[in-house]
Amino acid sequence: MKPIIAPSILAADFANLQAQIEMLNQSAAGWIHCDIMDGRFVPNFSFGLPVLEAVHKHARKPLDVHLMIAEPQYYIENFKKAGASNITVHYEACTHLHRVVEQIKAVDCKAGVALNPHTPVALLEDIIQDIDLVCLMSVNPGFGGQKFITHTYPKVAALRELILAKNAQALIEIDGGVNEETAPLLLQHGADVLVAGSFVFQATNPLQTILNLSNLST
Ligand code: DX5
Ligand code: ZN
Repeated sequence: MKPIIAPSILAADFANLQAQIEMLNQSAAGWIHCDIMDGRFVPNFSFGLPVLEAVHKHARKPLDVHLMIAEPQYYIENFKKAGASNITVHYEACTHLHRVVEQIKAVDCKAGVALNPHTPVALLEDIIQDIDLVCLMSVNPGFGGQKFITHTYPKVAALRELILAKNAQALIEIDGGVNEETAPLLLQHGADVLVAGSFVFQATNPLQTILNLSNLST
């Protein structure tokens, strides 16, 4: 099977966002990954609802929205209205995670849960059957272009085991430091979706870079 490639527009040229979205429309990307940062859950800001809405006007691929925000439960409907297809919240940001997952599904979005590098996959045991996607952070969230944390490889394998053991359907997405070295190993360990920011947008040929990633096999 081929992986889903989700380029992260955090690394795009924000002054030429329309052109960058059109490039992604032409590409082998399956999803467009949109990183929302609030300066509270993570020590950085990115962009919010109006920009997402503008992206959605031009995008012809599903928007994979990664909420790195505190108290995401108050904004699920807003992100749905702004064009999200997938909404991923952080495990660490949700006291009532099951309720937030239900909220996401109630607005007809795919529900994702993201784990910070220090959060063990075993904590998903009682929610894995209810979610569509697990996003394993392979860097500490907040910034693009960081070094890949290699402890992610055994985590991917452990998550694949948990999914099999629970007969769950969740996809495994990896976010941070994905490049030509880490991607094949992540897929060998059981990943389904690869997010790539700087590797795609800093490439001399982003279209070819996305195609190469999508031609790797899972
Ligand atoms: C990090 C974001 C990532 C980021 C990945 O907080 O969640 O999606 O854009 O960037 P790269 O691929 O450059 O590590
Ligand atoms: Zn992300």
